[in-house]
This record gives sequence, C-alpha cells and structure tokens, in this order.
Amino acid sequence: MITTKRQLEDLPAPSALPWVGNLHQIDRKQLHVKLEEWAETLGPTYTFKLGPKRVLVTSEVEIAISALKDRPGHFRRLSTIEPVARELGINGLFSVEGGAWRPQRNLVTRALAPHQLESFFPTLQLITDRLRRRWQQSVDAGTDTDVIQDLTRFTVDTTATLLFGKDVNTLACDDDAIQRHIDLIMLMLGCRANAVLPYWRYFKLPRDYRLDRSLKAVRAFVDEMIAHARESMRRSHRGNPRNLLEAMLALVDEPESDFSDDDVYANVITLLLAGEDTTAYSLAWAIHLLASNQDLQVTLHHAALDALGRARVPMTFADTAKLGLFEGVAFEAMRMRPVAPFHFLEANESIELAGIEIPKGTPVLLLTRPATLDDRNYEDAKDFKPERWVDSRESVCPAHRTRAFMQFGAGPRFCPGRYLATLEMKMVLAMLARNFSFEHAEDPSVTKEVFAFTMKPSRLRLRLRRVVRRRVDPNWPYIAPTFETPPTHPCQAKQVRNWRGDCARSGL
Ligand code: HEM
Repeated sequence: MITTKRQLEDLPAPSALPWVGNLHQIDRKQLHVKLEEWAETLGPTYTFKLGPKRVLVTSEVEIAISALKDRPGHFRRLSTIEPVARELGINGLFSVEGGAWRPQRNLVTRALAPHQLESFFPTLQLITDRLRRRWQQSVDAGTDTDVIQDLTRFTVDTTATLLFGKDVNTLACDDDAIQRHIDLIMLMLGCRANAVLPYWRYFKLPRDYRLDRSLKAVRAFVDEMIAHARESMRRSHRGNPRNLLEAMLALVDEPESDFSDDDVYANVITLLLAGEDTTAYSLAWAIHLLASNQDLQVTLHHAALDALGRARVPMTFADTAKLGLFEGVAFEAMRMRPVAPFHFLEANESIELAGIEIPKGTPVLLLTRPATLDDRNYEDAKDFKPERWVDSRESVCPAHRTRAFMQFGAGPRFCPGRYLATLEMKMVLAMLARNFSFEHAEDPSVTKEVFAFTMKPSRLRLRLRRVVRRRVDPNWPYIAPTFETPPTHPCQAKQVRNWRGDCARSGL
C-alpha cells in the first residue's frame, strides 16, 4: 500500500493573519477550549500558527501515544520549559531533558511506588481527618466552604509530609505561606514558558520581584528541611531513608554521585508543584460534578459506609482497596475535566509520525479530552458514570477504551505521582461522602474552566451539611443518613425519599 506523506502545510488549519498567525484568536486562559473547538471543526489532526511558527495539534489517540512513548528519543517537552525552570533553579524531573532525566526518574518513581505509600498511610489518614474537621467547622459556623483553597492546603500538607517527613499543617494553622509561594512559582513558570519575549532577562515587573521573593522563601524553607534531614540521617547512622528527601540526600552522598544539593532542591520544588494543583483541581472538579447529583451522593454515602463502617475516614490501607467506586469518581472527573487538557511536546529532530513530516523544533500539542468524550471510546461519554471504572471489562461496559485516557500521560514520562494522587482522591471523596452532603453555594455556572498550566475551576463554593449517624442494630452498624436541616433543593427531596425507603427496608 502506498501512503502519501503529508507536510504540516497540507493539514487543515484555521485561517491566519500574516505575522501574527492565529495569536489574535487565542485567549491564553481558554487555550484548551479553542484547541478543542478547532479539533471539532477541522478534524482530529490540524495545525495553527503562533506568529510564523506552525504548531501541530492532534487528538488521535494512537498518534499521541506514539509521540509520548518516543521520549527522550524524538520528542521532548516544549524547549521553552527547561531554560525557564533552570533560571528559577527548579529544573527537576518534570522539566529536565536528556541524560539527566533517567536517574532522577528512577529515584522519584521508587519513592512514590505503591508499597511506599502504604507506610505513609497513617499520615495521609491524619491529614484527611484534619480536612474533615475543617469542613465540620464550616458546617458548625454555618459558612460556605471554599473548596479549592481547602483542597490545595490538603495536597500541600500531604506532599510536604511525604517529601520531608515534616507536617506543614496549612489546614489547621491557617498559615498557607508555603502554598501561596508555590502557587506563584507555578503561575510564573507557566507564564514565562509561554512568553513571546523573555522580557524578565532585561527588566522586571512587580510580579517578577514577587516571584524572586517567593523563590527565596521556598529556598530557605527547603534548605532548612535539608539541614534537618542531614542531621537526622547522621543521628540514625544512615539507616534506611525515611522520606523522599532523605533518599535524595543519600544519593548525593554516594561516591561519584552526579546528584547535588541543587538537584535535590529542584526536585523537591518540582514535586510540590506537580503534586499540589493537579490533585487538588482534579478533586475539585469531581466535587463540582457531584454537588449537583444528589442521587449519586446517596449511593456514595452507602458505599462509604460499606467500606468504612463507623469510622469517619478510611482507617487502614486495606480499607482503601474497598473504595473502587470513589476511584471511579476521580477517574470520571479526570475524563471529563482533565487538569492536563493537552500535553505540550516538541520534535527533537525531524521525524515522520503517522505519515506526517514534522520538522525539528515543531511544537506538538496532544489533546486529551476529545478522545475521552467520544462515544466510540466510552459509552455515553457525556454522562458522569463512575461505575464504568469499577468493572471495565468489555462484557460489562461495551465501550471503555482505557488507552484513550491520557490524563496521566503515557510512555516513559508517565506521571510517577498517579498512585499517590489516586489514593489522596479516594481518601477525600470517601471522607466527604461518609460525613457530609453538599450542594453548590452559588450558581454552578459561575465555575468556569481556566487554563494556567493546569486547567482549574475558576471558583467553587459549597454548602456542606453533616450527615448524622444513627445506630439501628448494635450487631449491624447500619447508619441511616439524615440532613441536619430540612432539604431545600428538589433533588434532596428525592434523596430523602430514597433514604426513607432504605430505612424502611432496614427495619427503621
Ligand atoms: C490527579 C493528579 C495528577 C495528574 C492529573 C497528573 C498528571 C501528570 C501528567 C499529565 C504528567 C505528564 C506525563 C507525561 O509527560 O507523559 C505528569 C508528570 C509528572 N507528575 Fe503528575 N499528575 C498528578 C499528580 C501528581 C503527583 C501527586 C505528583 C507527585 C507528588 C506528580 C508528579 C509528577 C512528576 C514528577 C512528573 C514528571 C515526570 C517525568 O517527566 O518523568 N504528579 N503528571
């Protein structure tokens, strides 16, 4: 069979202006929406122009997977990222390219492996319970809950404790300085990597000075953690490393190690950055989708009771294996609202991919959502159905193409934090469903998708209510959920009817 090779110029493209290309049509905060719109009108593989530069975009799963797998060979992350990360002193696993990537990858992957998470579980349980208490306080005070703020505190506390063995406790102390610094660094990394001109190398704007201050504060914090870890390693006569920081320092101290304290710092920041927003926003999207689905909240409440019994949060690592439906909620939210709506790669050298000739240096954007919202890949793809992930055998769920789910990436640079993220999400969702019912505190349509390196909800305020436990039979701790206040929403009336049915069936 003769296949004709295509040049980038042969692919469909939106009409562009001379010099500016399609820049004038792009609102950075809505970049993903524009790319998805073009995919709908032009087809799954097309190009657009950023000034004179042609960018290849595809949402074809097999092309995307081929490119993601072909790293560090023919593809890399956008070449603007690494120099910016290096300038900021944070060139860690996410941004590093070439030969330096593999050793860092091995180290981080080992530290985030599932068996490591088991020993971390008691801490995660403590932090999840702290979040529950924070939400309980807002119920008691009758105030609405800023879910995004609370979830980012939760993920910062989790990642920092896993990394340093130090509990920064932003959830209970209301001192969220570290989280604010990290947010600013993340934002500026994204801005600088996408900047048309690197102006900050010639002059600085107020936000650049703010960035310098945040970097200084975070460096001082991490240096203190490094000093503390070294001291504790010295005292314990170099036993097994007890956290990721100690594991990295042990590597630095190995004879002929290529790893330095600066690499340790860069990776600590990388993990704080990579672990915070992604998980917090994925959880926020899941909660946003659940908030207007009271029936599903009831189902989840019962699933939480089945898994946790009388406990308010999962008590053992083994309990988390019973939270399949909650994992389904997390994956379903990521399928419909991916925090990474596209992967940004670049061709390291000229290469042919799926019959398309891609010149060296061409940016290649791989869209994640069109495939996961395609009925050919997921049955009733526009519907939120967490149960589809619980048993995804084809006999049970005819269209369920796991391969189309690239929300954690694919290939050798696949997200090493996915186990941790999944565990965190299951813990929070089970705790939420077990203890609270909730609805949007304002019109759900105010929650918009905003792209700033990750795709976040613009805002999300909830009205939480406590679900009260009532023992029915001392030998069988069936717990009937009831609202503390009468239901106000029509859906809740249905929920109460359902509960009444359940109560009647259970002999209440
Ligand atoms: C729901 C939460 C998360 C999502 C959706 C997510 C998504 C991603 C994606 C799409 C990538 C790029 C993968 C690729 O290039 O193929 C990535 C890479 C990465 N993620 Fe995550 N992530 C999440 C949570 C985490 C957590 C909790 C951590 C660690 C604490 C983490 C650490 C990293 C690191 C270090 C990389 C770079 C890996 C490399 O380049 O070798 N992520 N993540």
